[in-house]
Amino acid sequence: MKYIITGGCGFVGINLALSFSKNVYKDILVIDNLSKKTAVKNLSLLKKAKISFKKIDIAKSPKKIEKLIKKTKPKVIFHLAGQVAMSTSIKDPYLDFNGNVKSTINILETIRKYSKKTSLIFASSNKVYGDLNNYSYKETKTRFQIRKNFKGFSEKNYLDFKSPYGCSKGSADQYVLDYARVFGLKTVVFRHSSIYGGRQFFTYDQGWLGWFCAKAVKNKMYKKDKFSITGKGKQVRDVVHIDDIVNLYQKSVTKISKLSGKAYNIGGGKSNSLSIIELLNFLNTYLNVNLKYFKIPSRPYDQKIFISDNKKIYKDLMWKPKISYKKGIIDMINWIKLSKIYKNV
Ligand SMILES: NC(=O)c1ccc[n+]([C@@H]2O[C@H](COP(=O)([O-])OP(=O)(O)OC[C@H]3O[C@@H](n4cnc5c(N)ncnc54)[C@H](O)[C@@H]3O)[C@@H](O)[C@H]2O)c1
Repeated sequence: MKYIITGGCGFVGINLALSFSKNVYKDILVIDNLSKKTAVKNLSLLKKAKISFKKIDIAKSPKKIEKLIKKTKPKVIFHLAGQVAMSTSIKDPYLDFNGNVKSTINILETIRKYSKKTSLIFASSNKVYGDLNNYSYKETKTRFQIRKNFKGFSEKNYLDFKSPYGCSKGSADQYVLDYARVFGLKTVVFRHSSIYGGRQFFTYDQGWLGWFCAKAVKNKMYKKDKFSITGKGKQVRDVVHIDDIVNLYQKSVTKISKLSGKAYNIGGGKSNSLSIIELLNFLNTYLNVNLKYFKIPSRPYDQKIFISDNKKIYKDLMWKPKISYKKGIIDMINWIKLSKIYKNV
């Protein structure tokens, strides 16, 4: 066994697994506890592609993970499994802790004890930088802004864990880096901005870009529906298409020693940054609709802006996103229509 993808029935994992299986990386095993309802839908795709699968809860079953890694000694583990919703972390911090911290340390300990040559790539989040309220923000008609020539947040920003989700992703992120420092493991951390694209079964509180695209498609197809946006709608994110992320993970396998022990901000960058209002304006024009919304209070610790400065990963891996948000959103809309997921929003 060469590659293990944890959380491989989730959005990022299924895209990674399917793409890997089509090219040189055929020797893959996917692990998932299928805790997310939509994971079962993706499981059928794995079966069709003849990708091996094991149902394991990484947080609850360290012995099963130990046995598997001892036996297979994989070259790389892509650790994508986790609790992903901020709102769930506030409702159930213990579940969030188990899903993100406990599962990560279970994997790290197993590698340390039984398979030191295995590399680990961990999907972290830009939430490790907190709400970034130490910056001052201006407002234009459609977005928050720091200054016109602001190029994005680098990895030099200080860590500031806020909300249980911020704490659990941040702790896991730090453990992963520390196991490179203290135990000499080959581990890499990718701090992701919002990822979007096909097979993302977004919900109200996870996958905002897809959610609003689906609302717009629903409005176009059959039902005029007023929906909520949080805060002023001027929050900015640098969105990145899943195909760019798959490309990143594939490329990193070839340069794992160079990336090892480091954390990288990974996003769409300034040219792919947009606010909720800007997204809705784009959808109004592209789909020829007139979306109506109402405002509700901001989410706790919501960043006014997150734009990733991708310089470090470009320098070390020559990776940068290639898919523009306009092309990516059209792609997303096509998948939403095809999958009929707009009926569920
Ligand atoms: N999608 C994004 O925009 C984004 C942004 C920042 C960070 N990330 C990180 O990337 C990773 C993948 O995100 P995603 O969007 O694919 O999420 P997802 O929710 O679609 O997939 C996560 C998968 O992990 C599985 N899982 C959860 N807990 C598990 C456990 N204890 N044992 C085994 N499997 C478990 C779930 O069943 C699910 O299939 C996550 O760690 C997430 O925090 C994603």
